[in-house]
Amino acid sequence: MSEWTPNSWRQKPLLQVPTYPDAKALKEAEERLGSFPPLVFAGEADDLKKRLGEVARGRAFLLQGGDCAESFAEHGADHIRDFFRVFLQMSLVLTHGASMPVVKIGRIAGQFAKPRSADFETIDGVELPSYRGDIVNGIEFDEASRIPDPARMLMAYRQSAATLNLLRAFATGGYANLERAHEWTADFLEDSNAYSSYKEVVGKISDAIKFMRAMGITPQNTPRLRETKFFTSHEALLLGYEEALTREDSITGDYYSTSGHMLWIGDRTRQPDGAHVEYFSGIENPIGIKCGPSISNEDLLILLDKLNPKNEAGRITLIARFGDGNVENHLPRLIETVKKSGHMVVWSCDPMHGNTIKASSGYKTRPFDKVLGEVKSFFKIHREMGSYAGGVHVEMTGSDVTECVGGVSAVTEDGLSNRYNTHCDPRLNASQSLELAFLIAKEISS
Ligand code: PEP
Ligand code: CO
Repeated sequence: MSEWTPNSWRQKPLLQVPTYPDAKALKEAEERLGSFPPLVFAGEADDLKKRLGEVARGRAFLLQGGDCAESFAEHGADHIRDFFRVFLQMSLVLTHGASMPVVKIGRIAGQFAKPRSADFETIDGVELPSYRGDIVNGIEFDEASRIPDPARMLMAYRQSAATLNLLRAFATGGYANLERAHEWTADFLEDSNAYSSYKEVVGKISDAIKFMRAMGITPQNTPRLRETKFFTSHEALLLGYEEALTREDSITGDYYSTSGHMLWIGDRTRQPDGAHVEYFSGIENPIGIKCGPSISNEDLLILLDKLNPKNEAGRITLIARFGDGNVENHLPRLIETVKKSGHMVVWSCDPMHGNTIKASSGYKTRPFDKVLGEVKSFFKIHREMGSYAGGVHVEMTGSDVTECVGGVSAVTEDGLSNRYNTHCDPRLNASQSLELAFLIAKEISS
């Protein structure tokens, strides 16, 4: 076996590659990126791995979520804040409902590259290369926009840095203080059922904080009450970008991805002998593997051995995404395979990617009841098999979008066009996200 290096993936079969017309410009952009500062550092990735180890042992729960694809157009403080506050609300509901720590990971500050099922898209007889995320090309349906442009990698890096900067400020600068939990709401949430349940939870937490204050434990003297740990993640699809941000830890000599704390391998690029698996095998970060219906038990075992040879708890999160009604057909065999192998993994449920349908209006959507259905099956199967359902992975936003149909705010097929803003897959809106959190809290504690 040849030695791993940050660029050894270049010798392996690579899927989902954009065709850059200018190889020299691509090389120059990658070299520039390679000289930029890291976005995250090794110690943070190790910290996250330790926390995920607690999830693998059944002592914590993982909440991972964010946009399907971040976009250059939606980059602004409000968008980030709206996401972060719903995420905080969800994790509060989960921490309270499950009485255990929640590991918080955003699909954010780097989630730009998208795998596509077809290389080309045809509209009204015009065929153009598919949109592959703002880090590669533009979403507008015209020839110039669809040409992969390496300068977009530098834009994505800078946007990730700015986003992460604000998230770090929110997480540690006072916004996440538990005493402010009643402020983490948006006006449009006020008519939702989930909102009144949320207010109840906040009421109980306020009582607990008052009690602790009486005992001398306050947000002022206890950082845990006024700050939160928030981590970033994305699908590491564009390996040239990832390679440029891979750095050697000067203390240990180990390699880390510094483009995000956790990276995951998509369902379309997890071939055991492929370029993506090669890249992931050499970095120390915690990693996720998307597991759709096509994953075989044999491939899963090979991946676990290859990507986690030391069987480190917290290194691997298996993100199951089968679709409502299909979980029963696949999850049990994978749980059985993992159990037999002795591997420690975090089991997480992505109830989004197996439940995408096309509405009659042409919009891609996801019925909210199918999302809930998949989550319920995931928990039920884990309970029955004596395994720990450790987390969820969702596509969500803090805004009041109309992308997934259903939920208490009742987005209808006809209403999809009102605020359909996603750059890729349909996301849960703020109210649907909160509703989902309550369902999960119930499942965890049952
Ligand atoms: C995604 O998470 O946006 C995605 C493309 O998922 P998957 O690889 O599971 O299809
Ligand atoms: Co998606």
